[in-house]
Amino acid sequence: MSQEKVIVLDFGGQYNQLIARRVRECNVYCEVHPYQIPIQKIREMNPKGIIFTGGPNSVYLEESPVCSKEIFKLGIPVLGICYGAQVMAYLLGGSVKTAPTSEYGKTEVTVDTDKALFSGVASDTVCWMSHTDYIEKAPDGFQITGHTPVCPVAAMECPQRGLYATQFHPEVLHTAEGQKMLSNFVYKICGCKGDWKMDSFVEKTIQEIREKVGDGKVLCALSGGVDSSVAAVMLAKAVGKQLTCVFVDHGLLRKNEGDEVEAVFGTKGIYDLNFIRINAQDRFYKKLEGIEEPEAKRKIIGEEFIRVFEEEAKKIGAVDYLVQGTIYPDVIESGLGKSATIKSHHNVGGLPDCVDFREIIEPLRLLFKDEVRQAGRELGIPEYLVSRQPFPGPGLGIRIIGEVTADKVRIVQDADAIYRQEIANAGLDKAISQYFAALTNMRSVGVMGDERTYDYAVALRAVTTTDFMTAECAEIPFAVLQKVMNRVVNEVKGVNRVVYDLTSKPPGTIEFE
Ligand code: XMP
Repeated sequence: MSQEKVIVLDFGGQYNQLIARRVRECNVYCEVHPYQIPIQKIREMNPKGIIFTGGPNSVYLEESPVCSKEIFKLGIPVLGICYGAQVMAYLLGGSVKTAPTSEYGKTEVTVDTDKALFSGVASDTVCWMSHTDYIEKAPDGFQITGHTPVCPVAAMECPQRGLYATQFHPEVLHTAEGQKMLSNFVYKICGCKGDWKMDSFVEKTIQEIREKVGDGKVLCALSGGVDSSVAAVMLAKAVGKQLTCVFVDHGLLRKNEGDEVEAVFGTKGIYDLNFIRINAQDRFYKKLEGIEEPEAKRKIIGEEFIRVFEEEAKKIGAVDYLVQGTIYPDVIESGLGKSATIKSHHNVGGLPDCVDFREIIEPLRLLFKDEVRQAGRELGIPEYLVSRQPFPGPGLGIRIIGEVTADKVRIVQDADAIYRQEIANAGLDKAISQYFAALTNMRSVGVMGDERTYDYAVALRAVTTTDFMTAECAEIPFAVLQKVMNRVVNEVKGVNRVVYDLTSKPPGTIEFE
């Protein structure tokens, strides 16, 4: 299937996939490649445009990443962003230096609205800056199309050669008109028509999976969450009964969740799938005995999962591929991109080094959560499954701070079920991106029926977010919180205190561990 494509060359910035996603939002297919990609490969891909990402380096230092100058001779429009703008300036004879004043955060930039890149944009527009170097002088033949009081070249271009650059980041939402600028780049400058929609991604991926798998057997790690459900249905469409979905009930699921997953994907469910449920609660609890450290728990749960799958694979015999519903934020936060490791996400960093399958297939690896939901809708998955809030692979294991025991699982399951019920009763379930109860490791003194209690505190968490990379605490009406508190302390044995977590991400994370 031939379709328009814009490629992003990754110079090590944190927003590389975000740029790709913003371009896809313009209905233009976009993928990320390393900045060293051979020129011949770019020619073969025949992209309509190229975008250079930002990056943490200084272009004038010897070891810093720069691409080949040949790229500018391909006749393909290039947009350099932040470090990418500096790479363009440096390679084409401009001057890049440490800025006398660095800029960080929302900054008003004056742009030339006669130019195609800024068409329809306000002449003074708020943009997200994050730089300590700057382009002191644009290369010969370039016009300066944007500036701030301290940044003489906030944007520059040489339209005759199809070259454009911005010192600021149009891809982040803090740049008020950034999406407009990217849309101008792909439509007005690259001449794209916008032939990409999620259905093309789904179709293309299904085709690629078919070609890769051939007549091999595939095992899918199905948790019943949005990501693995979408991955499973995609695989089922691609390879039908060559796929077996294995659902491991590790005893760390939400209340009644095991049965709910079986009701959808099992023999009496809505899909014609090979489905196996493994009840492995005791096995996981035993492995987690005495383990308190979050990363250790994550690795144990991740590894045990894989061991269970391997055992199932052996029973089925000759399984070549393992499918996982890994999505882009999992990859980034597990430190497999260039950012620091925040948590080893189950699916990714939580995997043991040695996995007994020929290959792992992760069809959603480049998508953000809302894109995965869109893919799910394209696949015809019912809305109540597609719009489910996310649930992490290690499950309640990372919502119980400290050691996991069967009794603590019971407490957090019961408290969480009440919380979810009350949020739904209040009609808030669609407005909050993710909400759950967690069990703190704190016990404190209370009084109940004239008796002293010394019990656990349950923490309630609720956040709003679009990409799950950053999040805000959701403002739940006090009366709803009070009702949940009342029910939890009255109905859940072992809890005498309920707290509400106000932390945003950053500095917190959404899960507790
Ligand atoms: P954090 O806690 O890192 O979570 O802010 C961001 C989003 O990722 C989910 N999450 C996970 N999902 N495996 C997953 O599949 C994991 O190990 C994992 N850890 C966190 C979390 O629920 C939130 O939606």
